Parts: sequence; structure tokens; C-alpha cells
Amino acid sequence: RLLGTAAGAGAAGLVAGAAGGVAGHALASGDAPAPLTSLGAASVPFHGARQAGITTALQSHAHLVAFDLVAGARRKEAAALMRRWSAAAEAMTQGGAPDGDDLVAADAGPSSLTVTFGFGASFFDRTGLKSRRPDALAPLPSFSADALDADRSDGDLFVQIGADDALVAFHALRTLQRAADGTARVRWQMNGFNRAPGATARPMSMRNLMGQVDGTNNPKPSDADFEERVFVPAGGDPEWMAGGSYAVVRRIRMLLDAWDNLSGEQQDRVIGRRKSDGAPLSGGTETTPVDLGKQNPDGSLAVPGDAHVRVAAPSENGGAAMLRRSFSYHDGFDADGVPDAGLLFVAWQADPRRGFVPVQRKLDRGDGLSRFLRHETSALFAVPGGAKRGEYVGQRLLE
Ligand code: HEM
Repeated sequence: RLLGTAAGAGAAGLVAGAAGGVAGHALASGDAPAPLTSLGAASVPFHGARQAGITTALQSHAHLVAFDLVAGARRKEAAALMRRWSAAAEAMTQGGAPDGDDLVAADAGPSSLTVTFGFGASFFDRTGLKSRRPDALAPLPSFSADALDADRSDGDLFVQIGADDALVAFHALRTLQRAADGTARVRWQMNGFNRAPGATARPMSMRNLMGQVDGTNNPKPSDADFEERVFVPAGGDPEWMAGGSYAVVRRIRMLLDAWDNLSGEQQDRVIGRRKSDGAPLSGGTETTPVDLGKQNPDGSLAVPGDAHVRVAAPSENGGAAMLRRSFSYHDGFDADGVPDAGLLFVAWQADPRRGFVPVQRKLDRGDGLSRFLRHETSALFAVPGGAKRGEYVGQRLLE
């Protein structure tokens, strides 16, 4: 696998890389390959106190996958699987080839590949580890707007794959599925996407399939309380989760036909931000803090009472917060032409009982946006801290 030298070169590197790609066509005659663009060459460390794929910048392609252990696979087999998966993920994320490589990504760089592993509540029953199951992994309560498909919810094991190249992402998925053979089987899989790096010159958050700028008011690593909101502290409960986080995964269908029937102004009021540039209706630009108390000249609230950003705000939910790191999905159109599209909502937090649960409870009771959404699947996973060199992910639980 080739590692170019343009990593971190930014927009200039991409332009240079594009030229290199053109030259690359002529290389079929056997010349040395052109250096990879910064996109292909970029790699995210696999080892560390935290798993990659939580605070990593969103990639353009994702596979979210749950596996169930097969009958007879218990703790020993699960540990061996985590060891195989970690070795394969380490190789692929660093631009190397996994054992028995199928060459699907052979001529690509790592393309910011991340692979993140987690455990669902049922994993602890199957492996005889019930006494070590975190309290925070208690099943999520049901919400009135839920229309959940049990077959595409939950699961023993979770794998989140993200990459800035579709073949690199598929290669990781297929490699891990093969490595699971005889131990675990795919329970469900969802494919997501986001904007490709370099596609926009505008420094703003992502847009989702409703067209909104999404992710603006996420907790930021520079916030003083970021760590405590997103990650389980050292000495946390249970200890094996130190440096880990809990992922809530919801496939949220957007009722796009109903949404498209709203005027632009109505759409802005549903969120409480301008769709055009993400600025709050209380004024300013995308990054201006929302002023929930601001009134219009007629005395009405600038950010409506049921606006999504008001109902979801930490200040309205006893400080509850989460890091939303979601991907869009589109699985075609139903027979009646309705888009099967929306958000693969992934929320990361130190404890879902102080993150997703209270916020979703509040949204469920009176959020303007919920009228245009349907939660179709749900899962909660304990995502342990990262592996040190020579360790596998989940070792502190499984050894
Ligand atoms: C903010 C869209 C579901 C929690 C926002 C914003 C948009 C948005 C456009 C404003 C920009 C930003 O700060 O990111 C959506 C869409 C959803 C969805 C399209 C479903 C398809 C949810 C769910 C939750 C949630 C299920 C949690 C249970 C939040 C929070 C904020 C937010 C906490 C930031 C509020 C603030 O502090 O200003 N969402 N959202 N969202 N959303 Fe959602």
C-alpha cells in the first residue's frame, strides 16, 4: 500500500493530487505511481487511550454494523474475535494489508479509515459477563414516536467503520465480516455518507438530507467539560470502561415529502436556525451562541418554543449533552415514491442517562422537528477505551 507525502497539505494538496491522478492514468505502462492525494494518504492512529471514530472528523462513507455471536461462541471465542478484529483494523487503518487480503483497497491509502468497536447489553449474557455489564447499558426507555424494527435494532457487537473512500470502507467491512466467520454473524448493517472532504470551501458543519446545517452546537474538544460529557473517566464505573463512551445509534427516517411542503421560513422555525447558513434565529452567524430569551419586536420568541434547538439545548435539559456524529442514509424509494432516507444518528456520551435519554424524552414531548421524523431502529453500545500497542480492543473486559 502506498503512502503519499501530501498528507495535511490541505486544499493545495488536493489540487496537486488531482493533477497527479490524471498523470496516474498514464501509469498503466509501468511507471512509478503518482503520490496519493492528501485524502488517500491521511491516516488516523488506531492505538490510543480512546478508540478512533468518536472525535475524528466525520468521514464521507460509513458502515454501521451489529453482529450477534453464533450459538456456542462464548467469552473465549469473543476474546479471540476481538483480537483478530483489532489486528485487522490496526493494519487497515495504517495503510497495511490484513491477513488474507482480498485486494479490494490494495491501491488506496488509508483514507482516514477508522474502525470503532462496541458491546451491546446482550453480549454480557452470552459471554457469562453479566456481573460486569455497566449500569449505563440498561435498555433505553421507549418513546411515543418510536416505530422500531427489532430485527435492525440492538445486537451483541457493534462496529462503526468510517472512511473517505467507499472501497476502503467496504474493504474494512468485508474483512471484519470474514474474520468473524464461525464466531459472529451480521445482525444488521446500515450504510451512511456525508459530504466528501474538499467538496466545499465553506467552513461550516455538515448538511443533512433536510438541508440543514447540522452539528454546530456539538460539544467541542476545547470545551472545559468535553471529556466528562463524552468519555467515561479513569476510575469510572465499571473500571474496564475508562476512556470509553456510550453510543446511541438510531436510524431516523426523515419524512421528506412533508418537510418539503413547508415554506423556507417555516423550516427555519422548526429548527430555530436559518437553513441557508445555520445562523440562530436570535441573530448572528452559524457560530453565534443561541439566545433563547431573545424576543421579536412583537414580543414573540425569536427561537420558537418548540424549536428543535431550544427543546434539545443542554440549558433546557439539566445540562444533558452528547456528541452527535451522524451520517446520512438513503436506501432508495418505497413503492409509493416516498424516500427511505434520513439520518443514521450516532450520539456519544459518558452516560446515556445523562445524555440521549433525557433529551429524547423532552423532544418526544414537544419538538417541532419530531413531526417530520420516524425513529425506525435503536441500539445502545458500550464502546470501551482504545487499545495500547499489543493490546486488543475490549481486552480489559475479556482477558
Ligand atoms: C441540534 C437536526 C435528531 C439533539 C440540531 C440542529 C439541527 C438538528 C439542524 C442545529 C444545529 C446543531 O447545533 O447541530 C436534527 C435532525 C435530527 C435530529 C435532522 C433527526 C433526523 C436529534 C436527536 C437528538 C438531537 C434524536 C437527541 C436526542 C440535538 C442537540 C442539538 C441539536 C442536543 C444542539 C442543541 C443546542 O445546544 O443548540 N439538530 N436533529 N437531535 N440536536 Fe438534533
